[in-house]
Amino acid sequence: MQITIRRINTDDVPVLARIARETFYDTFTGTCTEADMQEFLDQYFNEQKLGDEVSNPDNLYFFAEVDGTPAAYLQFMEDYSGFPLMRKWKALELKRIYVLKEFHGRGIAQQLMDFILGHAHENKYEVVWLGVWEHNLRAQKFYEKYGFVNSGYTHDFPIGNTPQTDNWFWKFL
Ligand SMILES: CC(C)(COP(=O)(O)OP(=O)(O)OC[C@H]1O[C@@H](n2cnc3c(N)ncnc32)[C@H](O)[C@@H]1OP(=O)(O)O)[C@@H](O)C(=O)NCCC(=O)NCCS
Repeated sequence: MQITIRRINTDDVPVLARIARETFYDTFTGTCTEADMQEFLDQYFNEQKLGDEVSNPDNLYFFAEVDGTPAAYLQFMEDYSGFPLMRKWKALELKRIYVLKEFHGRGIAQQLMDFILGHAHENKYEVVWLGVWEHNLRAQKFYEKYGFVNSGYTHDFPIGNTPQTDNWFWKFL
């Protein structure tokens, strides 16, 4: 199994939208109503919105491909809007890391994490931070393996009308 990481470009947006919708659905289905889920997918993972984000040179989107086929994506950016406290440091937000479920536990997420941490070191970031749903224990365990810890800060992350709480995790470099 050969894993390669490459930058996503605007031609990839339909594939990105498909993977983003599928992985978000698989991760959060059952935690909100079906109507809330569909509304969320349509609002955040439509091709227009993803295309605008991919076109922004500061918004970094990557695929991990397995033997040439996308199996996961990673999004990160220097953006303090979600957690303004981070302005105290030069901080990078890991916005999304999503692996298709048939590829969980296969080392793909590790390669993506190594990739973003490498980028953070090379660009002299002081901290990487991210939000993770309080009940997403698999993701939390994964982040903890890389030295992320729960900052103790939380934020609301509603899916439609379903309230949910995310923990902010961080890793100082
Ligand atoms: C989060 C994600 C990127 C991690 O990738 P992965 O390939 O599954 O990661 P790994 O298997 O290396 O690590 C997960 C760890 O959690 C453990 N784990 C699995 N299920 C668990 C559970 N229900 N509770 C606690 N830990 C769990 C695994 O055993 C593993 O730990 P180990 O290596 O010590 O055995 C991937 O699972 C994913 O894409 N999930 C869906 C999307 C998602 O949640 N993204 C993050 C949003 S914040």
